[in-house]
Amino acid sequence: MGGKLDNGVDISPKYVGNPRLIEIAISTLATDRALLLYGLPGTAKSWVSEHLAAAISGNSTLIVQGTAGTGEEALRYSWNYAQLIAQGPSEAALIHSPVMRAMTQGKIARIEELTRVAADVQDTLITILSEKTLPIHKLNTEQQAQKALTLSPPPTTATKA
Ligand SMILES: Nc1ncnc2c1ncn2[C@@H]1O[C@H](COP(=O)(O)OP(=O)(O)OP(=O)(O)O)[C@@H](O)[C@H]1O
Ligand SMILES: [Mg+2]
Repeated sequence: MGGKLDNGVDISPKYVGNPRLIEIAISTLATDRALLLYGLPGTAKSWVSEHLAAAISGNSTLIVQGTAGTGEEALRYSWNYAQLIAQGPSEAALIHSPVMRAMTQGKIARIEELTRVAADVQDTLITILSEKTLPIHKLNTEQQAQKALTLSPPPTTATKA
């Protein structure tokens, strides 16, 4: 939304609109929930998500571009099949999706155009978003999501004794 920092640096506004929307977006992310931006084309959904990801995680590159052909492995993980067949299931044979990398590194992953993705593939997100974990059955293990955003409480004003 822009503003002036304590050290005098001016931040230019990136999103022009209702500040309440951005407050809700940040509160959602800070309380360990997924943020769904839903609306008409060209209303800055991608723009806002890029800026939030960059501000929180340092970059906005962990992205899955949803299409009708997006498969579960694009949201979860896939395997290097040559290595899987040669050596059996192992961490080395696992190919992490952007979502899994975000969970490991405590960063924001973005899924663009979620509504284009088939409903059964969207269901892959249920465990990830509700349990904050991604089971890897072949390895009998799971990837827990690390926190991406923790807000510190506002500074309290000193009271006179
Ligand atoms: N409220 C806004 N404040 C600042 N820039 C805006 C705003 N609305 C739109 N824009 C500009 O319009 C461009 C297009 O918006 P964007 O691609 O984020 O839309 P979208 O909601 O993701 O659309 P789509 O549904 O087609 O994916 C942005 O890159 C941004 O430059
Ligand atoms: Mg978009």
